[in-house]
Amino acid sequence: MRALFQRKPIDQLRPVGGDEHGHGLKRVLSALDLTLLGIGAVIGAGIFATVGTAAAGAAGRPGAGPALILSFVLAGTACAFAALCYAEFASMIPVSGSAYTYAYTTLGEFVAWMIGWDLILEYAIGNVGVAVSWSDYFTNLLAGFDLHLPDWMTMDFRTAACIEKIGPLVRDGAFAGASGSCAEALSSVGVQPDVAARLAPSMAALPHVFGAPTAFDIPAFVIVMLITILLVIGVKESARFNSVIVVLKIAIVLFFIAVATTFVRPENWTPFMPNGWGGVGAAAAIIFFAYIGFDAVSTTAEEAKNPQRDMPRGIIGSLAICTVLYIVVAAVLTGVVPWSELGSADPLAMVLEGRADWAAGIVSFGAVIAMTSVLLVFQLGQPRIFFSMARDGQLPPWAAKVHPRFHTPYVTTILAGVFVAVFAGLLNIAEAVALTNIGTLFAFILVSIGILVLRVREPDRPRPFRVPLSPVTPILAVIFCSYLIYKLPDSSKWRFVIWLVIGMVIYFLYGFRHSGLRRTEPVPAMFEEADPDDSAARTKRGR
Ligand code: ALA
Repeated sequence: MRALFQRKPIDQLRPVGGDEHGHGLKRVLSALDLTLLGIGAVIGAGIFATVGTAAAGAAGRPGAGPALILSFVLAGTACAFAALCYAEFASMIPVSGSAYTYAYTTLGEFVAWMIGWDLILEYAIGNVGVAVSWSDYFTNLLAGFDLHLPDWMTMDFRTAACIEKIGPLVRDGAFAGASGSCAEALSSVGVQPDVAARLAPSMAALPHVFGAPTAFDIPAFVIVMLITILLVIGVKESARFNSVIVVLKIAIVLFFIAVATTFVRPENWTPFMPNGWGGVGAAAAIIFFAYIGFDAVSTTAEEAKNPQRDMPRGIIGSLAICTVLYIVVAAVLTGVVPWSELGSADPLAMVLEGRADWAAGIVSFGAVIAMTSVLLVFQLGQPRIFFSMARDGQLPPWAAKVHPRFHTPYVTTILAGVFVAVFAGLLNIAEAVALTNIGTLFAFILVSIGILVLRVREPDRPRPFRVPLSPVTPILAVIFCSYLIYKLPDSSKWRFVIWLVIGMVIYFLYGFRHSGLRRTEPVPAMFEEADPDDSAARTKRGR
């Protein structure tokens, strides 16, 4: 029992990055790089896709209406409290691994494992949702150029099966009676009944596997694999690519605001709160997805030049910029059309269609770019969490291998890439988003509790950044995040519990027995030597 809650002493957390021998990860990221990485992770499918059904509602959950603005304030406030806690940890424990590492030093090994396992939901399943939305916008963009991909190639099999089932009901005028998980699944991904009716015959014509049409989202699969290759090649190269994309995506959001503002009709803002606070809360729990990512900054702590100073800047800076942009987008979006018409998979482009088609095309293009950078940051974060876990003996040592020439954790990068790409081909975006949100909120809660615990246990430890008003701020983070979990669909809560149980089983079968904290045999050589012929590494060392 004591072993389960054994903590890793903070002093044992030696960053392996960037030493003078060219081993491990390279310290190359500046404060600006980190802020851009944060924005790169944050602005994506949340603001370009999930806002639609959040405002309009879906079967089984009320919409916020124009009060979507308040939903953003609510979710943003929860994130701000949690961000301050992340910032304190990231400045105090600047090694990769994020919430996993923080939990290891405060709440013990078992909680750390569970959080590492839980973060797979945030990073990998989150990216599944983003890749699916990327594919939606990409397909629409191609259609704008008269290139049409077959529907079975751009859709997951659950959506395809539901379309096949519900489409005929619409055609026969019996749709009003359609309820249950399929009606819910389609409305939550913004597939309207008339679209289901149109597509149903082609889904029925496909070969079936286990009763579902053989649909697979190929663009989602391909984009994740391409990003994986980029990430294996190198983090600085990736950060540079990211910076260019981030500037473009802020420009696209500003462009949307500027164009859409000219079509705002203030009467659309009344009633402001059509479904009361219930609608505001349900929408906040969904659009929380739009904020996820600022914490991904903390997974690159070993690659930051000056983590103590720059981590808090990167985390809080990216969150602040995104919050302001989101609130303005929500106000403008709900001002252009009546809120009940926003239930679409691509609401930002949709409200401009028919009003300024050229602008809708630009926004779609921007959405594809924006989501590419989200995919990049999350695919960057996930392997670094696995890397930290493997280094602690919680995963097999081969998972912590660093590429001798590219200095990236290539084994876990490739594993995470294949996992996300395959599931992006198969899963429904709304279900992926709900599961991601619950996993992330849970991580935020544990990190906030970790701050409270460490303040009591180690009050004198140097904290380059301190959460203001502790313990009030961490407690508020716990309360706000718990409320958002409560407002998520029940189906996602059950899936989450099942996920945690699977994690527990794996921990007792592997992590508990191989823990680095109780290892008696010599630590295996986990990091490969830098290739002596690698001129890039030599130049770096020579500097
Ligand atoms: N915040 C990220 C997005 O909205 C996950 O795409």
